[in-house]
Amino acid sequence: MNYYFITGTSKGIGKAIAEELLQDKNNFVIGVCRNSTIQHKNYRHQPLDFSDIPAVEHNLHKVFVPYNDAEKLVLINNAGVLGEIGYVGEGMPNERFEFVFDVNVIVPAMLMNSFLQVYRPLQVPKVIVNVSSGAGKYPIDGWASYCASKAAIDMLSQTVQQEQNVRASGVRVFSLSPGVVDTAMQEHIRESDAQKFSNVQRFRDYKEQGELASPEEVGRKIVWFLNNTDEFNEVMVSVRDIEA
Ligand SMILES: NC(=O)c1ccc[n+]([C@@H]2O[C@H](COP(=O)([O-])OP(=O)(O)OC[C@H]3O[C@@H](n4cnc5c(N)ncnc54)[C@H](OP(=O)(O)O)[C@@H]3O)[C@@H](O)[C@H]2O)c1
Repeated sequence: MNYYFITGTSKGIGKAIAEELLQDKNNFVIGVCRNSTIQHKNYRHQPLDFSDIPAVEHNLHKVFVPYNDAEKLVLINNAGVLGEIGYVGEGMPNERFEFVFDVNVIVPAMLMNSFLQVYRPLQVPKVIVNVSSGAGKYPIDGWASYCASKAAIDMLSQTVQQEQNVRASGVRVFSLSPGVVDTAMQEHIRESDAQKFSNVQRFRDYKEQGELASPEEVGRKIVWFLNNTDEFNEVMVSVRDIEA
């Protein structure tokens, strides 16, 4: 059995990846987030709120249980939040920085740490995919915490890959940008105020002009990528590079 640990499977990109994977009976998906929306015999849900770090720490052992029949182990850190849109220094409550970093960086780092530690004795192919964003590569006004958190996940991915290379473990780590996808996160972006995000109209136009990719299309591409990681040499990958 191939085991896929995926965060944020209740909706959007994470749900689409899980549903695509579940079409193959050799795949088993462990979904981790607050809400469970998938019913399938090869799906197990672990409820967790990533903004509650002590609860995450306490429940990690329930996520990464022994899977002695594993032929492949994959961790997909997909769950993410944009946080409150607005300029730093203009009424943003301080705790919002912590919230975005907990969900987008701290918990993914904890999951990578536990995944690598728990399954270290298992000599099977292992892959970690951290879902990143173009927003981690260039600044976007109003999105400071989000941009900084995605830049952090890019560097975490690159560093962990370098460590795995030093250990010659064969583990592959990727930081994958999914492009602009029609999910709740995009709705949240379109609803923002131009005073708090100068480029909001461009995102409203993406929707109106049908330029957003569907989560299902992106899910299919990501699953193709997961089955063909040997074709990719770099840690940083964009869905645009996937020709599925
Ligand atoms: N959509 C885009 O255009 C786009 C572009 C670039 C990058 N991305 C990245 O792609 C990933 C998926 O985004 P999406 O667009 O699919 O977002 P989405 O539709 O808003 O889904 C977000 C997922 O994250 C989970 N999540 C949110 N807060 C959580 C918390 N406190 N604890 C645990 N899980 C939590 C949600 O599950 P629960 O609510 O059930 O907890 C949900 O399943 C994110 O990392 C995002 O940054 C998206």
